[in-house]
Amino acid sequence: MKNRIYIKDIKEHLGKETTIAGFVDVRRDHGKLIFIDLRDMSGKVQMVALPNHKEAHTLAAAVRSEWVIAVTGKVNKRPEKMINKDEPNGDIEMEITRIEVINKADTPPLDVRSDGKEIGEETRLKYRYLDLRRPRMQENLTLRHRFIKELRDFLDAEGFLEIETPILTKSTPEGARDFIVPSRLDKGNFYALPQSPQQYKQLLMIAGFEKYFQIARCFRDEDTRGDRQPEFTQLDLEMAHVERDYIIEFIERVLIHLVQKVTPEKKIQEIPFPRLSYKEAMEKYKSDKPDLRKDKNDPNLLAFCWVVDFPFFEKMDDGKWTFTHNPFSSPKTEHRPWLLKGERIPDILTTQYDVTLNGFEVGGGSIRGNNPETIEAVFRVMGYTTEDIKKNFGHMLEAYRYGAPEHGGIAWGLDRIIAILRNEPNIREVIAFAKTGEGRDLMMDSPFPARPEQLKELEIKVGK
Ligand code: AMO
Repeated sequence: MKNRIYIKDIKEHLGKETTIAGFVDVRRDHGKLIFIDLRDMSGKVQMVALPNHKEAHTLAAAVRSEWVIAVTGKVNKRPEKMINKDEPNGDIEMEITRIEVINKADTPPLDVRSDGKEIGEETRLKYRYLDLRRPRMQENLTLRHRFIKELRDFLDAEGFLEIETPILTKSTPEGARDFIVPSRLDKGNFYALPQSPQQYKQLLMIAGFEKYFQIARCFRDEDTRGDRQPEFTQLDLEMAHVERDYIIEFIERVLIHLVQKVTPEKKIQEIPFPRLSYKEAMEKYKSDKPDLRKDKNDPNLLAFCWVVDFPFFEKMDDGKWTFTHNPFSSPKTEHRPWLLKGERIPDILTTQYDVTLNGFEVGGGSIRGNNPETIEAVFRVMGYTTEDIKKNFGHMLEAYRYGAPEHGGIAWGLDRIIAILRNEPNIREVIAFAKTGEGRDLMMDSPFPARPEQLKELEIKVGK
């Protein structure tokens, strides 16, 4: 649209005629005077239609909430007694000279101007494109953008490279079920969507990219909760030639920088972040993600905490051992001989570190086992045969034979961190197009039944 300006810049046009465009927020009809609040992505402004601009006045009487209009008018200062100090544009008003209706709107099935908390989740997700119009959601996604932008800038300045890794890949164990995708060209075989880029980032260390990160989409077929979605976003990061405490201190620096830059109103309770061993956390707080806030009523208080020294393995119901966090982790140096000999399994501690925030696990990582013997020993404890290990992780064992630096990293649950910074109780509030508790996308109506010809082509039969 020619000469259209954003509402946030409207004050620069005081006394001049200008054009703005957006959604009708509200309309108040006082007969002679008709007030319309117009909303674009940058802000809101009050406009007034007077009877002397006859055509515009008639149209102003006809428009309804959520219609999309372009308005030309003169930007005026409001009379002293009409000034609203609580609104950014509360001291100005646009006198409408022309209205162009771009599109009318049906009455929306949900109120888009409230904070939306009174509206059922199903309706909000079905009409997500309307739900996202509400200021709270606009602010949530704006903060998400700013957080990720600052993060990228910070890591770039520190010499990190952002490298994309595949979405169509092979299982990488993170403790959840995989989503699998059938291959047409290789019938009967499947790709797995990554639960995390874990193996790729380790291979990037072997490839010589010493500082890697990625804003990575991860997929886990597990029961959805307030802090869990089947598809979510990690900051994934890995560094070579580093030890545990170096990573912990570096990550702490990144988190502090982001909080100060993006949400300066927040106060971090304790710096450096307190560190607890898993044992201490369980004994003292009965949780491995304790909420350490001294005042839980303070919406601006952030209590970060590191939890370290987790057991490497735990016993499953069937009596077999499984990893607690990550099978590619290195045990603590002093416990490596036990791992290699398969002794004292419950006593082996891992180099894993989790970072928690206000009672949520917002990240976790470890120093990796950087040689085939360590990796093999982990899978052996879990009852894998040499054959199984080769079949599933042969590429990893082989890669580690060609010279691997010491390396380690972390992944943050970005959705969780952003939700906490916005005081949102649920990560759905900071994900543009989130899924329901049952993993459905109600707006797109997915998952959906594949077409018979698609199934035929893939040679897949679907049971009842
Ligand atoms: P982990 O499995 O602990 O580690 O995941 C890292 C962080 O991701 C977040 N998270 C989730 N967020 C939303 N929905 C989910 N379903 C979900 N699952 C996990 C959590 C968690 O702390 N590859 C390793 C990291 C590493 O070792 O470097 C990994 O993925 O905040």
